Amino acid sequence: VISDDEKGHDLELFCVPRHYESDLDKVIIPHGLIMDRTERLARDIIQDMGGHHIVALCVLKGGYKFFADLLDYIKVLNHNSDKSVPLTVDFIRVKSYCNDKSTNSIKVIGGDELSNLAGKVSLLDSDIVETGRTMQTLLSLLNECNPKMVKVVSLLVKRTPRSSGYRPDYIGFEVPDAFLVGYALDYNEYFRDLSHICILNEQAKEKYKM
Ligand code: IMP
Ligand code: MG
Repeated sequence: VISDDEKGHDLELFCVPRHYESDLDKVIIPHGLIMDRTERLARDIIQDMGGHHIVALCVLKGGYKFFADLLDYIKVLNHNSDKSVPLTVDFIRVKSYCNDKSTNSIKVIGGDELSNLAGKVSLLDSDIVETGRTMQTLLSLLNECNPKMVKVVSLLVKRTPRSSGYRPDYIGFEVPDAFLVGYALDYNEYFRDLSHICILNEQAKEKYKM
């Protein structure tokens, strides 16, 4: 849990791309900490879901870094333990955000036929849960396909009064109600090319507004 009064780390202490230096206030979650937490999530997930073939579903675009790193850690576990789980992957794209606000319409684009998930165990992988609407919409779509089990992992969950109360099965970090970017989380497509999770400042919200 990252508390509301978390001060974060000064940008000068880490490597941040020059083109973003004036857009960010603080580093909230350094890349190394994301990796260490992800390693543990991989262990927890395999402990619970091991023994099944897992279909890992990445929610693009924001989930791509977390998905790739989580799967790498799961692969390491598969390489080095007596029990291992077959893993297949798929990618779906959803778009619900404009500027720093969630919109009511959630568009799902791409991916294989979801009906392939019938009878399978799937792990839905997301960057951040805010209101919970995106995940709840995806979950009801998936459940129509009669999967055997669906688990949701989200790197971040935001503490916000806008939350519907939905909580994923696995959570990397619970974060304050601020707009976060980096590690594939974007503001109007910018900041995916930043390794650490940072708080965006108000000038930057104007600068990159659509
Ligand atoms: P929800 O449907 O309100 O839970 O919103 C989830 C989606 O909104 C995420 O998959 C992100 O794409 C986006 N989102 C919510 N909060 C943030 C944020 O702080 N930074 C970047 N994207 C966010
Ligand atoms: Mg986004």
